[in-house]
Amino acid sequence: MALDKKHTKLGVIGAGGVGSATAYAATLRGAADEIVIYDIAGDRAEAEGLDIAHGTMFAHEAQVAGSGDVEILRDADLIIVTAGARQKPGQPRLELAEANVNIFKAMLPQVMKVAPNAILMIVTNPCDVLAVVAQNITGLPTERCFASGTVLDSSRLRWLIAKKAGVSIKSVHANVVGEHGDSEFPVWSAANIGMVPLNDWTNEAGEKVFTDEVKEELAEQAMRAAYKVIEGKGSTNYAIGISATRIAEAVLKGEDAVLNVATQIRGRYGIEGEAALSLPSVVSREGVKRVLDVPMDEAEVGRLRASAEAINNSLKTLGF
Ligand code: 2OP
Repeated sequence: MALDKKHTKLGVIGAGGVGSATAYAATLRGAADEIVIYDIAGDRAEAEGLDIAHGTMFAHEAQVAGSGDVEILRDADLIIVTAGARQKPGQPRLELAEANVNIFKAMLPQVMKVAPNAILMIVTNPCDVLAVVAQNITGLPTERCFASGTVLDSSRLRWLIAKKAGVSIKSVHANVVGEHGDSEFPVWSAANIGMVPLNDWTNEAGEKVFTDEVKEELAEQAMRAAYKVIEGKGSTNYAIGISATRIAEAVLKGEDAVLNVATQIRGRYGIEGEAALSLPSVVSREGVKRVLDVPMDEAEVGRLRASAEAINNSLKTLGF
């Protein structure tokens, strides 16, 4: 007897650069059977939906549409929130918090009315702070209201490491954890290429490639990557769109995939407060099923606590 394939519906809130790139990537990768875009700018949302739908003959079959009516989100299984103010050149993500909290307060109650069983993934920045804010507004638990976190930053770091080592990005295992922002950091102690610890990786001449200064430089480049793209084109959208899509696949297909999404980690590593931070986590149909206890050295735990403090300070300022 064929397994009854559940119809999956992905909602994307925001028809701007990030939202449309996310909907486009989700269509290309066949992340869901139905992909809808909601934005108060209804004409833009409808046009983005149409423009993607017109190409579905060449992609995975999916029903794609956009609208200014929140009804289009009805019964979505997963909703990716991308709407809100975005970073200006050189502007840290945390500075966007206040403006975007107000947008969330106005928008999320209506969204939950039409999609009460949806899982929320927050991409709008500062995504870690806003994931906690969204939990407070909707009453959803952290495992069903999480942030895309450092999935994108880990992809950026792996790209940099792969280029440096001359290997496929798919053979690089390295994770950025903590804030999706200025206090993020790689867990170098666990990084490896094809089971060879990164710290032991050598070039053909037998020289160590990833010295402390090289690692520092790669970490800085990964953390500043968005700033560099924003300087050149005003915003980022493609990499965040495909990163959000990767997470959406894990949820909608029930993959139990380990991804660095951000949930509240109070009590771990001696961290208190409400901060949501990225750590490798098992992501599936229920949202975030489990946050892994990653072995970290003392310095790494110290940096995770610093990340938590940055997020908690922002939440306190916002009154959460
Ligand atoms: C980025 O890093 C948008 O925060 C996102 O590109």
